[in-house]
Amino acid sequence: MSVLDGKVAAVTGAARGLGRVEALELAKLGARVVVADLGVAFDGSGNDKDAAQAVVEEIEALGGEAVAHYGDAADWNDAKAMLEKAVDTWGDFNILVNNAGFLRDKMIFSMSEDDFDAVVRVHLKGHFVGMRHASEYWRTRAKSGGEVYGRIISTASEAAIFASPGQPNYAAAKAGLIAMTGSAAHALLKYGITANTIMPRARTRMTSRGPTAQMFKQPEEGFDTFAPEHVAPLVGYLASPASANSSGNVFLVWGKSISVLQSPQHAADFQSEEPWTYESVDESLSKWLADKQPIKDSFIVTSM
Ligand SMILES: NC(=O)c1ccc[n+]([C@@H]2O[C@H](COP(=O)([O-])OP(=O)(O)OC[C@H]3O[C@@H](n4cnc5c(N)ncnc54)[C@H](O)[C@@H]3O)[C@@H](O)[C@H]2O)c1
Repeated sequence: MSVLDGKVAAVTGAARGLGRVEALELAKLGARVVVADLGVAFDGSGNDKDAAQAVVEEIEALGGEAVAHYGDAADWNDAKAMLEKAVDTWGDFNILVNNAGFLRDKMIFSMSEDDFDAVVRVHLKGHFVGMRHASEYWRTRAKSGGEVYGRIISTASEAAIFASPGQPNYAAAKAGLIAMTGSAAHALLKYGITANTIMPRARTRMTSRGPTAQMFKQPEEGFDTFAPEHVAPLVGYLASPASANSSGNVFLVWGKSISVLQSPQHAADFQSEEPWTYESVDESLSKWLADKQPIKDSFIVTSM
């Protein structure tokens, strides 16, 4: 008996990188898995109908059960069809791993409207549509007296907190999906459904080029810190009944490390006896800001 026996999962962007190893991990733990992927190139262009099928075959070769779903993770109808495929094939839906995405890195002054829209769409709306359909499915089932087991796992990035300078589109979308997952966590609490976010670091197509390529390179010997496989066990745990007390949390995960991040904290408070004026704001804030740098240097330049 495995921890996810009888559970049905869908993983978006599961044909490659992190999504692939997460789908394999869920199957290894007993879940039946919809391997969902549009098979796009690094920048979101093109598509490949067969990409997801290769991972289905890997899962089946290991004795698991999986089906492929070809669709756009950020499309309302495609996301609904992904869920319907799970229910039609196996009779229920329990675990949603939102993971699909791509990059189009540019500094704020060079970014095109299309680069902004495409990246925000895939990472932010690409998390919304799956969560929207899955939560409606679970709520309807709960209201009709059915048993409900639901887990949502979202994929953010440290770009959301370090605000990488080459990724205004990506950083914004990843910060937004953390807030959206937190909102879903609150809304679904009464149904016993959890929603958590991970911030992974791993060597994938996304990090194997540009400034991060060297940092993520596979070592010639010893522990391979950035192998994507090290991220998957946390996803398995967050999908499992054992994680029932975790909802709305954000986990940073890579190598042998898992950190739990807290919400932004107060850094300072200022009160005025009278309504604020330019002068009183200047007097309060400038004194506090005097020994501070305008912004901390980010160690992440791009591609996280
Ligand atoms: N690799 C890292 O270190 C890292 C760090 C932080 C966050 N992330 C996040 O992890 C997730 C997975 O990234 P990865 O590194 O495995 O990248 P990857 O490029 O290896 O895999 C992404 C997969 O998503 C699919 N995809 C892209 N757009 C899609 C769409 N609209 N519909 C369906 N499928 C689509 C692609 O076809 C691809 O198979 C992303 O959300 C990424 O932002 C990765």
